[in-house]
Amino acid sequence: MQTKTLEGRKALVTGAARGIGASIAEALAKAGASVMIGDILEDEGRKTAAHIETFGVSSGFTKLDVTDESQWESAVSATISALGGFDILINNAGIEITSLVVQIRPEDIRKMCDVNVLGTVLGMKHALLAMKPQGAAGKGGAIVNISSVAATIAFPAIAGYSATKSAVDRLTRIGAMEAGKLGYGVRVNCIYPGLIPTTMGMQLANDMVATGLAPDVNAAVAGVIDQTPLGHLAEVTDIADAAVFLCSNQARFITGIGLPVDGGMGM
Ligand SMILES: NC(=O)c1ccc[n+]([C@@H]2O[C@H](COP(=O)([O-])OP(=O)(O)OC[C@H]3O[C@@H](n4cnc5c(N)ncnc54)[C@H](O)[C@@H]3O)[C@@H](O)[C@H]2O)c1
Repeated sequence: MQTKTLEGRKALVTGAARGIGASIAEALAKAGASVMIGDILEDEGRKTAAHIETFGVSSGFTKLDVTDESQWESAVSATISALGGFDILINNAGIEITSLVVQIRPEDIRKMCDVNVLGTVLGMKHALLAMKPQGAAGKGGAIVNISSVAATIAFPAIAGYSATKSAVDRLTRIGAMEAGKLGYGVRVNCIYPGLIPTTMGMQLANDMVATGLAPDVNAAVAGVIDQTPLGHLAEVTDIADAAVFLCSNQARFITGIGLPVDGGMGM
């Protein structure tokens, strides 16, 4: 991949203290973008921001609970004032609470809807407002929402999570449609990552055992690999490289898509 494809760009990545979000933040920085880290985890988030600065770009941390609209307002302002603009949003923050359908607890579904659906749409709202002509940043840009392979297949024990990730897919397409038709100069796309052994991914593997769907964690992981034509789990950098591409000028005529980065699991 060509380097420095994002020279001079200004990004906010949510849920970037660790996992996929931290890897996306690093890849954006390596491609030349300045990157603000937004997360509820302050210590880890500040450490990630300090690491991002080692790539020679500006970075910073902004406390952001994506379910809280007033925190979105301050995170966007903090990004514009710290980085001198805002033209990339990665809506990555998400949670997964595993449950068989017959054991679903309403409060878990509400929590996932809050973070995964409301959090994503609030991010789209405040990014579009800031990036569109006459907005506080005003130079257009790119939004990438992190959906999941779970939006494209039927995987047991994650019905509620899969529903929220399908919603992210739909939000992406309608955001892209409105942004295109109304001349905002913002492209909106999403990525469907396959299973990755982050904190969330390993929790799911453990939950597969707890729900009786796999005898042990190794068998749970092996079951996913078995469903993956490329024959291994995804790595965080696989998702990060795809996010860099979708934000870059190489993707200038791409909007409203969901890009599977899942080794073929969802084909
Ligand atoms: N790991 C996987 O296998 C996998 C697969 C497909 C999609 N995804 C998606 O990728 C994204 C990142 O997942 P991950 O594996 O890195 O998870 P993770 O649990 O390792 O990291 C999630 C990050 O989001 C942050 N976060 C949680 N709630 C938040 C909130 N309300 N406001 C702001 N930040 C919040 C957490 O503090 C954490 O830093 C999620 O949207 C997830 O659904 C993950």
